[in-house]
Amino acid sequence: MRKFVQRVLDKLPKLDREQIYSLVSQLARENEQLETVLDSLTHGVIVLDKQDRIILYNKTAERLLPVVGSDVDEKLVWSVVGDEEVAEFIKKSLDNDDRVEDKDFTLGAGGVARTISLSISSLVQHGEIQGTVVLVEDVTDRRAREARLRRAENLASLTTLAAGVAHEIKNPLGSIGIHIQLIQRALKAPARLDRKTVRHYLDIVSEEVDRLNRIVVDFLFAVRPMDARLEDGDLNKVIGDLLEFVHFELSEAHVTVVTRFDEGIPTLQFDEKFLKQAFLNIVNNAVAAMAEGGTLTVSTRRKGDVVEIDIADTGIGISEENMTKIFEPYFTTKDFGSGLGLTVVYKIVKEHGGEISLRSKEGEGTTFTVSLPIPQKELRLLGWKDKRHGV
Ligand SMILES: Nc1ncnc2c1ncn2[C@@H]1O[C@H](COP(=O)(O)OP(=O)(O)OP(=O)(O)O)[C@@H](O)[C@H]1O
Ligand SMILES: [Mg+2]
Repeated sequence: MRKFVQRVLDKLPKLDREQIYSLVSQLARENEQLETVLDSLTHGVIVLDKQDRIILYNKTAERLLPVVGSDVDEKLVWSVVGDEEVAEFIKKSLDNDDRVEDKDFTLGAGGVARTISLSISSLVQHGEIQGTVVLVEDVTDRRAREARLRRAENLASLTTLAAGVAHEIKNPLGSIGIHIQLIQRALKAPARLDRKTVRHYLDIVSEEVDRLNRIVVDFLFAVRPMDARLEDGDLNKVIGDLLEFVHFELSEAHVTVVTRFDEGIPTLQFDEKFLKQAFLNIVNNAVAAMAEGGTLTVSTRRKGDVVEIDIADTGIGISEENMTKIFEPYFTTKDFGSGLGLTVVYKIVKEHGGEISLRSKEGEGTTFTVSLPIPQKELRLLGWKDKRHGV
């Protein structure tokens, strides 16, 4: 409460009628001013009490989120919100005490589809939760802009990929052409036909066809939207399983594995199959970089609202010039590399809302760091534990 009001309230028994009248009209004026401010906001604001009943609903909220009935005051919020999907979502979030940030819904009011974004957070006063604030924003234009930008980016990376594919298929196609000509020439002189040579030519053609096929399959994997299914999972276990899976190969390559798993990391949401693929690609690169053997150190740790995974090798390292290129499709320094390994890793990490970075020094080794976001509900649990342990 504002100090001025408190002071006047303290003196209330001593005030005469006129003073009380003037005080009430001043408060009414201020209240009206506040209402005008609230109604002019571009955000819709809905304030709920602890029982989820509406105590405030500004004009923008009314416009963006149509309600059923004319008077919404003190009604349960989900019983008056006109859109069934939104109403159900709000009810579920409030029941579960979920904080929500920017959840999009498409509403089709009046034949024009609009996208609104909902955020739900607690209304805290004097350190105690007094209710809930629901913010509603019209994000139709912003989302359209973002989609345009994404399409442009996709197109740009598609162009790079397509150029890469064109480059990749040139060699096998050339080789197939040459060997077919050789076979035709051999067939023209049946008397001198050397079956063994022709079979050899055919083998080469067949190998090149396999190569073409692999290029196309890899290309499709790199460009197709990934249908990642994110599920709760234990990251340490997934990495442990993967290292177990490549155990034989690593010992053959004289690579010693050191793991430093933080057992306290929270449950994360990921698609196990894709994440394993990403880590496998990084591990394969690390092994390839340690031709004479070395040490592979894999560690996990929580850092703020993400979990970081380090995969470090003691291999040849990456030159500064190449560091900017390694995620590009088809960039490879290997004789038989496709150069798509890290492109796929990047795509998988992004699909999980994560980031990837690296440090490297030529002759010393390389460390790739993947960071994956901790889900909201786990963060809330962690916040609670941190507080209890005075972190
Ligand atoms: N740990 C590492 N140490 C040194 N160089 C690396 C490492 N990881 C990646 N690189 C460099 O990045 C390049 C691109 O890696 P990427 O995995 O995309 O393709 P690739 O390994 O060459 O081929 P592919 O993975 O398709 O077999 C590699 O050729 C190599 O030069
Ligand atoms: Mg690779």
